[in-house]
Amino acid sequence: MCSPRTLRLCEKFFVFLLCGSALPAAPTFYHDVLPILQKRCQECHRPGEVAPMAFLTYRQTRPWAKAIRESVLLKKMPPWFAEPGYGPFSNDRSLSQPEIDTLVHWAESGAPEGNVKESPPARPWVNGWNIAAPDAVLTMPRPFPIPASGELDYQYIVLPGGFSEDQWVEAAEMRPGNRSVVHHAVVYVREPGSTWLRDAKPGVPYVPPGQTPRERLVAGITTSEILLVYSPGNVPEQWPPGLAKLIKAGSDLVLETHYTPNGHATSDRSKLGLVFARTPPSQRVMTLQMGNDRFLIPPGHPHYAVSVRGTLPNDATLLGYFPHMHLRGQSFEYNLVERGSARRPLLRVTPYNFYWQLFYRLATPLPLKAGTELEFVGYFDNSRRNPNNPDPEEAVRFGPQSREEMMIGFFDVAVDPHMDKAAFFLRPGTQ
Ligand code: HEC
Repeated sequence: MCSPRTLRLCEKFFVFLLCGSALPAAPTFYHDVLPILQKRCQECHRPGEVAPMAFLTYRQTRPWAKAIRESVLLKKMPPWFAEPGYGPFSNDRSLSQPEIDTLVHWAESGAPEGNVKESPPARPWVNGWNIAAPDAVLTMPRPFPIPASGELDYQYIVLPGGFSEDQWVEAAEMRPGNRSVVHHAVVYVREPGSTWLRDAKPGVPYVPPGQTPRERLVAGITTSEILLVYSPGNVPEQWPPGLAKLIKAGSDLVLETHYTPNGHATSDRSKLGLVFARTPPSQRVMTLQMGNDRFLIPPGHPHYAVSVRGTLPNDATLLGYFPHMHLRGQSFEYNLVERGSARRPLLRVTPYNFYWQLFYRLATPLPLKAGTELEFVGYFDNSRRNPNNPDPEEAVRFGPQSREEMMIGFFDVAVDPHMDKAAFFLRPGTQ
C-alpha cells in the first residue's frame, strides 16, 4: 500500500514501481538519524562547541531537517576536504552514501520522530572539552582585549607549565575563550634554557620587537616543538595509544594567537587542557613543518603553484597532515618523490577552505626512511572568481595577516621516545 506521504515521495524520485511493500519505511529520528548525528555531527553541534545550533534532541534537530538534507547532499557538512582515495584517515568524518541517503530520506519524509524507546544511549561528552577530563588546565591569567576593528599582530603568551617532572601528553586541546575572535593559535613547548621570547613576562601578551609585521613574524619563529595547532573545526589532538608528546620538566607553554576583530570590542581568555599518559609511550610525536615563504603570486592568477621540497633527516613514521594557507588557498598536495622523480600522492585537499583548516590523520601510519624526499604544493587563486579574495589586483607575498599568504605543510611524525627536535634535524653522518 502506498500512503499519501510515500506516494508523494515516490513521485519525487520517479520510482513508482517501488511503491508498496518494497519501499523501506521512512527512517525515524530515534532509530536512524540520531546514531548518525552522534557519530558525525555532535562533536560540533552541541552546546558550547563551534556550530551555532545543537543536534542532541529531536526538538533541536527537527527545524533543521531541510537544511540538513541540503548540506549533506552538497557535502557542505560535515566539513572534510580530503579528496577520496587517499588515507584512509582515522578522523575522516565524511558521511557514507547510506548515511547521506538516510538523512535525505528522513528529511523528505517529513522528519518523523519515531519511538523514543529506539533511541541509542546519549553519547557521553566531557562538558567543556572534547578530550577526556584534563589532568592539567593552563589558562591565560588575564583576558586579552580585542578592539572592534583593525589588524592585530600575533600575540605570544607564555604560560609557565610548572611541571617538576617530564610529562607525556596523550591528548591536548586549546579552548578559546571567545571563538569569534580567535582565528587560530599554535601552542609551543618552550624547553628550559631556551632564549626564545626571553623578554616576555609570564602571562602577559607579547609581540616580539621588529619594525614591520614580517620582521615581527620572523622574530617569533622558533625551533620549539609544537604541541598543537588550534583552528575552528579541528578535532583536538588525541594521539594513538603508545604515542605521546613530551613536555620536559620546567618547560613553558607558549600560545601564539592570531586574533581577528569581529566588529565589536571584546576580549579573550583561552585555556589549554592536557591529558597525561599513565605509562611512558613507545614513541614520541613531533610536529614538523615545511613551507615556502619566498613567493610572489601575480595579480589575477587563477591557479598559481607554490611548492617546497625537502628530505627527511632521520627515520620517522608519518602520522598525518595539516596544510595551511590563507584566503587565496585553492588546493594543497602532499607528495612523496620517488626514485626517478615520480610522485606518489599522499593527500589532496580540494578545495582548500580557509575557514576549515583541518588535520588529516592517517589510519595506518606510514614509516619513512631518512633521506625520503617530500614535496608539498599549494595552489592559489588570486583571480576575481575566488569569492574570498581580499584583492585580486594585489601581488601577494608571504605574511601573517589573512590578506597576505602562507604556504606551510605541517605533518606529524612518530620517532624514538629519546629523540628530540634538534637531534632529529642532525643528519646521520654530519654530527
Ligand atoms: C567540525 C564541526 C562540524 C561538524 C562535524 C558538523 N558541523 Fe554542521 N556546522 C558547523 C558550523 C560551524 C556551522 C555554521 C557555520 C557554517 O555553516 O559553516 C554548521 C552549520 C550546519 C548547518 C546549517 C547550514 C546552513 O545552511 O545554514 C547544517 C544543516 C549542519 N551544519 C548540519 C550538519 C550535519 C548534519 C552534520 C553531521 C552529519 C554536521 N553539520 C557536522 C560545524 C560542524
